Amino acid sequence: MASKHKTDFVKESLASLEKSDLYRRMRTVVVKGPTALVDGNEAVHLCSNDYLGLSQNKQVIKEAIESLQEISQCSSRLIAGNHPEITKLEEMLADHRKTESALVYPTGYAANLGAVTAIADKRSTIFSDELNHASIIDACRMSGSTVKVFRHNDTDHLENLIKHIHGRKIVITEGIFSMDGDASRLPEICTVTKEHDAITIVDDAHGDFVTGPNFAGIPAKLGVDVDLHISSMSKGLGCFGGYVATTKPLRDLLINTSRQFIYTSALPVHLCSAAITAMPLAKKGNLQKKLQKNIDHFSTAMKRIGFTLGDSTSQIIPVMIGQERAAVEFSKELLNVGVFAQAVRYPTVRKGSARLRVSLTAMHEQKHLDVAIGAFEKAGKKTGII
Ligand SMILES: Cc1ncc(COP(=O)(O)O)c(C=O)c1O
Repeated sequence: MASKHKTDFVKESLASLEKSDLYRRMRTVVVKGPTALVDGNEAVHLCSNDYLGLSQNKQVIKEAIESLQEISQCSSRLIAGNHPEITKLEEMLADHRKTESALVYPTGYAANLGAVTAIADKRSTIFSDELNHASIIDACRMSGSTVKVFRHNDTDHLENLIKHIHGRKIVITEGIFSMDGDASRLPEICTVTKEHDAITIVDDAHGDFVTGPNFAGIPAKLGVDVDLHISSMSKGLGCFGGYVATTKPLRDLLINTSRQFIYTSALPVHLCSAAITAMPLAKKGNLQKKLQKNIDHFSTAMKRIGFTLGDSTSQIIPVMIGQERAAVEFSKELLNVGVFAQAVRYPTVRKGSARLRVSLTAMHEQKHLDVAIGAFEKAGKKTGII
């Protein structure tokens, strides 16, 4: 009998993904603000997390270029990478989230891994919302803690899970959920965490700079104090990198024990300068007003046509399709008529709850949205989704 080749599993894994409509392939994308060249063809861009359009802002780009003296510090923060521009950015981020301090990580993904693994160990229990982002799921697994997943935004379930647990307890949720666009029920969650003396962590990657008083995100909007704010600067701020905003002792603990902070190169200075320049622009509020106008226009039209948009209250609008193959086909139909909306499938979302994750930005004009709405209606009728 012919023995199996050592890499046969690769073909088998890929074939299995193809068979279950879960195979992923990348398109080339050149972003041009509200539109993009997708595999060389111009389309309305409905997949960007650059919610305010600040990644395209001329002043931000100019400051980034002017501060570009070296591509990167080529060193970790604790060795020789701790440029004054990073510490300036951290002071601004702490002020932004109204915390004592902040610590920048190379990405939001690393910030989640770094913060959770530094505060949770194998004697701790983490309570995690079932719809939390993959970076939170990975962080929980990596910490070695016992992980208890509570039903989405269900504080009764959280209460039932937490009430018999002793030892260090950590509750982690998102601000605006990345694939559903709804907000966390933070006031109710904080009531439970307070009662059970649990540490509260919020990953506010999608609410940060977009919502709340002074655009400080969901905890500020809902008027609650949390122990650790985690966020990404590559969404509302239109820049790059992640951060944790928290108390000074917790920041010290992260600097001393968080492997994703210690053993990686520092965020390049020009990216810090970009974020420093973008922050006051994000706080003017004009971009959020335009974004809200776009959200209202798009959601109203899509609901009227007959699409199901979940419980979204934000710029992330899931157009629910269901089956994985149908979502991929729908996305292709849209692209054929110049609209780029990615199909999101398992394991990013539950099996059978595939969707087109539309994200709106302040860069879209009504004409872009109307093209998109028209294309959705046509594809929806053709595929029988509406
Ligand atoms: C909720 C959430 N957290 C963290 C991240 C990771 O952020 P970054 O892209 O900066 O690594 C994402 C990215 O999509 C996200 O949606």
